[in-house]
Amino acid sequence: MSEMPEPTAIYDIEKTYLENAQKGPFFEGITPPRNMPDKQDWIDFLGFKIASPIGIPAGPLLNSKWIELSANLGFDILTYKTIRSHAHSSHPLPNVVPITTQGPLLPGHLPEYVMQNAHPKNLSLENLGITNSFGNPSFPPEYLQKDIPLANSTLREGQVMIVSIFGTSHNGVDIVDDFADTALFAKECGAQIIEANYSCPNVADDEGSLYSSPDAVYEFSSRIVKAIGDTPLIIKVGAFPDISCMKQTFLAAAKAGVHAICGLNTVSMKVFNKNMQPALGPNRITCGICGTPIHEAALEFTRQARKIIDQEKLDLTLLATGGATRPHHLQEFLDEGADIAMTATGMMWDPYLAMRFHDGE
Ligand SMILES: Cc1cc2nc3c(=O)[nH]c(=O)nc-3n(C[C@H](O)[C@H](O)[C@H](O)COP(=O)(O)O)c2cc1C
Repeated sequence: MSEMPEPTAIYDIEKTYLENAQKGPFFEGITPPRNMPDKQDWIDFLGFKIASPIGIPAGPLLNSKWIELSANLGFDILTYKTIRSHAHSSHPLPNVVPITTQGPLLPGHLPEYVMQNAHPKNLSLENLGITNSFGNPSFPPEYLQKDIPLANSTLREGQVMIVSIFGTSHNGVDIVDDFADTALFAKECGAQIIEANYSCPNVADDEGSLYSSPDAVYEFSSRIVKAIGDTPLIIKVGAFPDISCMKQTFLAAAKAGVHAICGLNTVSMKVFNKNMQPALGPNRITCGICGTPIHEAALEFTRQARKIIDQEKLDLTLLATGGATRPHHLQEFLDEGADIAMTATGMMWDPYLAMRFHDGE
């Protein structure tokens, strides 16, 4: 076991999304030697041999530079941040605002609002709640055609990249067509696995909650599967309103040919500053919360998802994320039945999180 460096933030929340993409990741640390498992212990993930079940969901990996750093630091399943069929700018700053809560945020028992953290410089990994309010920005197709293959080329043996995609109705293109076209575009750029984001709480209309309609999940997923053929499809979901909706959605997904489910996405909440004004400005009263306050909810999601998959004998792989900022949080996901354990917020403040896990810290 080697001595791991101290955690250090690699995403600068005071800089714009574009600056973080162009100048980040802000990492000057060392790359410790990896504690690599024997090849015979590698796992199968959607047909790929993977060195460990530790990964990063869609979000912090803005482009190939972010993928490369994370691959070097021992994350083995890397998700390229959600792309669209056309260029789309990010919401202006602030995008990420640290928040505080009175205990865990449990869907069904959510408070009316949460407060912006008045002491953002003193964030600890044990108490790391943030907003994530970007509005699904996307670089133009010409950029992605170069950067997705570049990102793939930085991976080592035992690693794989997922490309997350999102569709909208725009310029007369129907939303289902746009999802299918963008998935095909990602495949043509070299995506080996595709994830459809059905759960973005930061977009203005119903496109953000497709995942809770079993009919929509069936319709959209069937179309995407038809477009991408044998490339595995993951769907990204949020917290379900009830178990019955969750089960119906999983059944619909499996019937449509989906290979895996990834959850949770962020939990949607109002965020106020100390003057009781919306922390992200008057146009963004509500936004997604991620990090430690949603870890309990993500564990509950994992437990329920595993139960449904097993009881219904569904051929679905389960990827869990939500509030894992320490190695034992990742282990908790695996213990609750996740096939893959992931961290977005955690890795932004501790890029050594996978290495710590591999070291048995
Ligand atoms: C900075 C940031 C950006 C995100 N962007 C996306 C995104 O583009 N697509 C998506 O499906 N989820 C996105 N997410 C949500 C994460 O994939 C994940 O579901 C959520 O943050 C919970 O995991 P965590 O608590 O480990 O962060 C983003 C999260 C963060 C922190």
